[in-house]
Amino acid sequence: MRKPVVLITGAGGEIGHGLIERLWEEGRPAIITIDLNPLDASLGPKVARELVGSILDTNLLERILAEYEVDMVFHLAAILSTRGEFTPVTAHQVNVEGTLNLLDFAQKQGESHGRRVVFLYPSSIAAYGLPDLETKARVGRVKEHEWNVPTTMYGCNKLYCEHLGRYYNHFYKQLAAETLSGKVDFRAIRFPGLISADTVPSGGTSDFAPEMIHAAARGESYACFVRPDTRIPFMAMPDAVDALLRLARAERTGLRYNVYNITAFNPSAEEIRELVLEGFPGAEITFEPDLKRQAIVDSWPEDVDDTAAREDWGLAPGYDLRSAFTEYLFPRIAARYGTATP
Ligand code: SER
Repeated sequence: MRKPVVLITGAGGEIGHGLIERLWEEGRPAIITIDLNPLDASLGPKVARELVGSILDTNLLERILAEYEVDMVFHLAAILSTRGEFTPVTAHQVNVEGTLNLLDFAQKQGESHGRRVVFLYPSSIAAYGLPDLETKARVGRVKEHEWNVPTTMYGCNKLYCEHLGRYYNHFYKQLAAETLSGKVDFRAIRFPGLISADTVPSGGTSDFAPEMIHAAARGESYACFVRPDTRIPFMAMPDAVDALLRLARAERTGLRYNVYNITAFNPSAEEIRELVLEGFPGAEITFEPDLKRQAIVDSWPEDVDDTAAREDWGLAPGYDLRSAFTEYLFPRIAARYGTATP
């Protein structure tokens, strides 16, 4: 008998970290993880099996297939938007071929145990591309089908993988026998920038917000790599994990779409700085825009319309901008670094 499990790829990343903690608190399901690096010591005991390896290693996926019955996949592994611009071909391999490997893995799992495998995919605001700041200001909140013309390799990869997921959902081997038809139940969230109190991101372009906060808590000066007026949507990590689990557990019949926007607040970089200074009054934060990273963030929308997620599966972020800082980030980050907040 193979054992039923949840599979999480990229489990050592920021979302994986929050997701494993939440699943552990909620009911301790059996979790198998794949990550290039060993998990943090705090997470190791919370998973049934930790595999250190690559999602490009199909032998590794075959071994999981032989041993476990996977009902749900959280495919979080990816090379983020800034790092992807330094190694675009590698980003494509990891982000697209890796996702194809996982979709194919989920299909085979479904064929072997006869149920559809729920496949959660973190897409991104990077799937959007606005041509200039004037357009960005004019269009404001964008809906899922608008401005799907990304400018980064990462954004192109995310947008294309949304389509791959749609294919596996509805059209897989549409000319073949009925028994081979789609066994993947693909569900994607276009995440805004995420801010965690427990981890710092690496290789993303929305990283300026979490970097600013964590640097202030460590008592280090920070030169923000975007202009003060830069505005994109953000969300606190607990709400992002909550959204992922709500979508994972939603009845398929209530889901009108495969891909949903979500957001919680959309401060400018200057507004983030002012809030950080309330919590850490001595913080030294300056602005030294990096033109290339600025261009990426300028192409992302200043806000997204998440009405469909609220209507279809009850998206309900608990933190607004102020409470994300005062109730979540300040107390937790200060405790983490042993610093005091007023
Ligand atoms: N936050 C990610 C990044 O900045 C986007 O998904 O790359």
